Amino acid sequence: MKKPVALITGASSGIGRELAKVHASKGGDLVIVARREERLNELKEELESNHGCHVAVLAKDLSVRKSRKEIFDYTESKGIEVDYLINNAGFGALGPYHEQDWQRYQNMIEVNITALSELTWLYLKPMTKRNSGKIMNVSSVAGFTPGPRHAVYFATKAYVTSLSEALAEELRNTDITVTALCPGFTDTEFAEAGNAQAARGMKFTTTPDKVAEYGYRAMIKGKTVAVEGIINKFLVAVGIRTMPRKLITKVSRFLMEKG
Ligand SMILES: NC(=O)c1ccc[n+]([C@@H]2O[C@H](COP(=O)([O-])OP(=O)(O)OC[C@H]3O[C@@H](n4cnc5c(N)ncnc54)[C@H](OP(=O)(O)O)[C@@H]3O)[C@@H](O)[C@H]2O)c1
Repeated sequence: MKKPVALITGASSGIGRELAKVHASKGGDLVIVARREERLNELKEELESNHGCHVAVLAKDLSVRKSRKEIFDYTESKGIEVDYLINNAGFGALGPYHEQDWQRYQNMIEVNITALSELTWLYLKPMTKRNSGKIMNVSSVAGFTPGPRHAVYFATKAYVTSLSEALAEELRNTDITVTALCPGFTDTEFAEAGNAQAARGMKFTTTPDKVAEYGYRAMIKGKTVAVEGIINKFLVAVGIRTMPRKLITKVSRFLMEKG
């Protein structure tokens, strides 16, 4: 029987790396994507020797527009059928909106929104033809609320959750599922990459392996919105969805401030 192939973006660290480990441990093959090729090659070696799987490495910068089509063309040319598309790559930029570099926002929107949307669009076509496949978009609890001091990042995640929920409904009568994985604060390289180490919320982190285990299970089950962790589930169900929007925006600001 053919092993399921997962294409995972942002597999060079954090949640993406752990997702790759979970998939390999379940007997699947992989295509792993990120900019840091050395990291990807290290992971390839580790997974191939521990699990006997096949891992293809693609060093790509997803903020570069042509990269997404290049990834798709690569898998097509190698005859690799992608069964699970995991759009995980993403980053933030903490601080007052007007003080950040515009190019950084532009890159963030390219990676968090445009690349995720384009890869989904590209891979949905063959999935639809086969009437099978799973897509997991790594969103965030941040997608449920505005995020003062992290405004663009929170807004990109609102987009990711919304797109995923809409596509899940569009595909309801097919064998293709779409999952938005919504972790809370997680101890990865994310804080450092987005200058967010000092944010209060970063004191309440979980580990990327827990997020990956949970997210992978949710994707296999075809859950549409998967909020990781009891406290996050409570915050979303009881806090964010029932509290006045102004109040939740203030709480969100409190968590994004230094503390
Ligand atoms: N950590 C958290 O608190 C948290 C909470 C909720 C959601 N999330 C989401 O979880 C996902 C994974 O983040 P993480 O926490 O695991 O952070 P991380 O350790 O910083 O991992 C981010 C990954 O994205 C890749 N990436 C960033 N920019 C890229 C680009 N231009 N092209 C290709 N790949 C790029 C990075 O690889 P290279 O640098 O090698 O390119 C890295 O593999 C993100 O979507 C993030 O928004 C994180």
